[in-house]
Amino acid sequence: PHQDKVAAISKMKGAGSIAALTCYDYPMARMLDEAGTDFLLVGDSLGMVVLGFPDTTSVKLSHILHHLEAVVRAKPKALVVADLPIHTYDTPEQALDTAKQLFAAGADAVKLEGGIRQAEKVRAITDAGIPVCGHLGMLPQRVIEEGGYQKKGKTPEQTQAILDGAMALVDAGVFAIVLESVTPAASRIITENIPVPTIGIGCGNGTCDGEIAVITDLLGSFPWFVPPFATPEADLSHSTTEAAKKYISRVREQKSLIP
Ligand code: KIV
Ligand code: NA
Repeated sequence: PHQDKVAAISKMKGAGSIAALTCYDYPMARMLDEAGTDFLLVGDSLGMVVLGFPDTTSVKLSHILHHLEAVVRAKPKALVVADLPIHTYDTPEQALDTAKQLFAAGADAVKLEGGIRQAEKVRAITDAGIPVCGHLGMLPQRVIEEGGYQKKGKTPEQTQAILDGAMALVDAGVFAIVLESVTPAASRIITENIPVPTIGIGCGNGTCDGEIAVITDLLGSFPWFVPPFATPEADLSHSTTEAAKKYISRVREQKSLIP
């Protein structure tokens, strides 16, 4: 059950070994789970890397539910976490209603972006028994207001602000916090000063309790936007184009055989 999966993640605090990936469909969930991934995020990044939107601000709850249901059909051993899309948690009541829908669809936990201003919403969800993962640092749902993807935690004041947000989330009951694009020094300070695991992306190596990557960055399957910190382990966009070319030649050659 979901409580055991969450407890397994909590136990990894301090070990630096939580391996998390985003995941958006059934075959990928089976493969990533078989590989031993600890944490599968049905992230709103799917808006960009699966649905072709320019950023995550066009993602609707229906999109997340559609992909979450596919991931859940794989019955992963990994913890399945689903993102609350933008404007599905504008109030504590709406946050709880959205989290309940994701939980009913099979998510083990939900994730939302932001610190102090979200604490009351996090509390509403955790009070209902649904585990919540926080997300601090660069918040992609605010990319338009911020005018791009900026590094966070560059000054002691910024670092303290992120730490204050993290403490507010911990008080509201989060079991983990994703840190995105936080400087290595700041992410280390935050990791050492909160009791729940931090899961980093774009925060440097070994500064958090674990790491999350967007699956298309790992697989090289979305070549049009690759963040500077991505470490691809495959080149699926190339393999896909090559396979399609071979198929096309095969079809055309056969056609030329018809008298
Ligand atoms: O949606 C997503 O992929 C995320 C990760 C970047 C943590 O929120
Ligand atoms: Na996200």
